[in-house]
Amino acid sequence: MSETSGGMSFHSRRSVKPQDLSPNGTLFGGNLLQWIDEECAIFAISQLGSWRVVTKFMSEIDFVSTAHLGELIELGLEATAFGRTSLTLRVEVRNMVTGEPIVTIERIVMICLGADGRPAPHGQTVATHGNERIPKETSAASSRSAYLL
Ligand SMILES: CC(C)(COP(=O)(O)OP(=O)(O)OC[C@H]1O[C@@H](n2cnc3c(N)ncnc32)[C@H](O)[C@@H]1OP(=O)(O)O)[C@@H](O)C(=O)NCCC(=O)NCCS
Repeated sequence: MSETSGGMSFHSRRSVKPQDLSPNGTLFGGNLLQWIDEECAIFAISQLGSWRVVTKFMSEIDFVSTAHLGELIELGLEATAFGRTSLTLRVEVRNMVTGEPIVTIERIVMICLGADGRPAPHGQTVATHGNERIPKETSAASSRSAYLL
């Protein structure tokens, strides 16, 4: 497995809308996890050059603070290790208004699959900061990944 370092390499921002709130009136954890998973999938596609990626593993999730209606949150992602078929990510989510961390997930493992749905080698060993690995052929956008498009 090839380890990488060098800090957060991708940032994404969201505003907290009424439909994102829990009955408590604060950001619903399930919504945040959906955003994190979606960002991880897009990040893995752009790193591994394949539409066929799935989330395999997420380490401990500890929501240490929250966000309120109208506040902005920032998701930061970095690739921490490239395996044979896997890509390990680290994710930090921060409230941009209060400056407080909301959650840090130390280890999220994404797996590259072949057409048979089994793990397949992705051939990558280092992270890219560009978009050159995003698959260009739209025919690769199988029904299984069409939800992203
Ligand atoms: C992803 C999936 C195909 C992996 O199958 P598997 O038989 O466990 O895979 P393998 O044992 O061949 O391992 C493949 C890779 O996953 C990694 N892996 C397997 N289990 C893991 C775990 N519990 N935690 C972290 N990594 C794991 C292995 O280390 C390996 O990585 P490497 O090739 O870089 O060394 C299978 O578990 C699956 O389909 N899961 C559902 C995924 C999904 O649909 N996610 C969305 C939410 S439902």
